[in-house]
Amino acid sequence: MASVSLATSPDRTLELKGSGFRAMAVLSDHNQRIQVLRYEGADMVSLVAELRRCGLEQGFGKVFMKADPLHRPALEAAGMEAEASITGFFSGEDAVVMSIFLSEQRRERPHRDQEEAILESVRSRKPSSKPASLPEGYTTNVAGERDFEDLAELYAQVFASYPYPITEAEYLRQTAASHVVYRVIRDGSSQMVAAASAETNRPLGNAEMTDFATLPSQRGLGLARLLLEALQGDMKRQQVPNLYTIARARSAGMNRVFANCGYEWTGTLVNNCHISGDFEDMHVWCRQAQ
Ligand SMILES: CC(C)(COP(=O)(O)OP(=O)(O)OC[C@H]1O[C@@H](n2cnc3c(N)ncnc32)[C@H](O)[C@@H]1OP(=O)(O)O)[C@@H](O)C(=O)NCCC(=O)NCCS
Repeated sequence: MASVSLATSPDRTLELKGSGFRAMAVLSDHNQRIQVLRYEGADMVSLVAELRRCGLEQGFGKVFMKADPLHRPALEAAGMEAEASITGFFSGEDAVVMSIFLSEQRRERPHRDQEEAILESVRSRKPSSKPASLPEGYTTNVAGERDFEDLAELYAQVFASYPYPITEAEYLRQTAASHVVYRVIRDGSSQMVAAASAETNRPLGNAEMTDFATLPSQRGLGLARLLLEALQGDMKRQQVPNLYTIARARSAGMNRVFANCGYEWTGTLVNNCHISGDFEDMHVWCRQAQ
């Protein structure tokens, strides 16, 4: 797929209604997609037709939603396809990620062989049992007011583009206040060198482990793994048991970190996010509380 450069405009929420359905969705110009947040009703044919119409009207390439597996046959009959599952997403019950591709181009996977080779090597390698400890002088903490400017700067250094505006301190501040736990690592000279987050959905008891970034000079020290383990501890304390991630399929390191921490691969979301300058396939990995 050709590289696309997109201006960042804020996501918009949209309520869709028909005689047999209701849904709340997010339209993302940046990711050129509709994400359905919630849906209800029995008429899946009309729901899918409306999503398709709306996506095409926007010129988008993809619609996706986390659905109840009981609805899968009706959604498939209406033209959606299952790409992955998320273990325990709905208060311990699984979700299935159902998608519509609105163009053939959005379905193309030019890096498929490379992604499958990475997945195969990550899943077949024995998980590393390296003890997780911070290098001397390094510290980690849940991000607070004194961290958001540095955190936005770190994300701007690591990502050429990202599905959400994490390079803006105000966005980090607001999401931290509502539902996201950001964790950071600083080195001995107080420079922020790595960060990640847990985006919690407390009513449903799940969290997406996401926004991993380590400065290039600091990679391979185990910092992403340390952040993941610390965030898992944060989630345990907050009684959020079901954890998952949507990781870039071409990042061997990122997929390795999740495999090392006991996550299971449950599928691949094709061209799901616009990240670092292009659309990318994302692998889903899940882990339930031990
Ligand atoms: C992905 C990223 C966060 C990893 O950070 P990190 O702090 O270097 O990660 P860690 O040191 O904890 O672990 C990396 C693991 O991947 C392995 N790894 C790293 N690069 C690898 C490669 N090219 N091939 C195979 N394995 C690789 C490491 O050996 C290590 O595994 P091990 O502990 O079993 O030896 C970092 O590379 C990064 O910031 N990338 C750019 C941003 C990004 O893509 N973020 C992910 C968004 S989904």
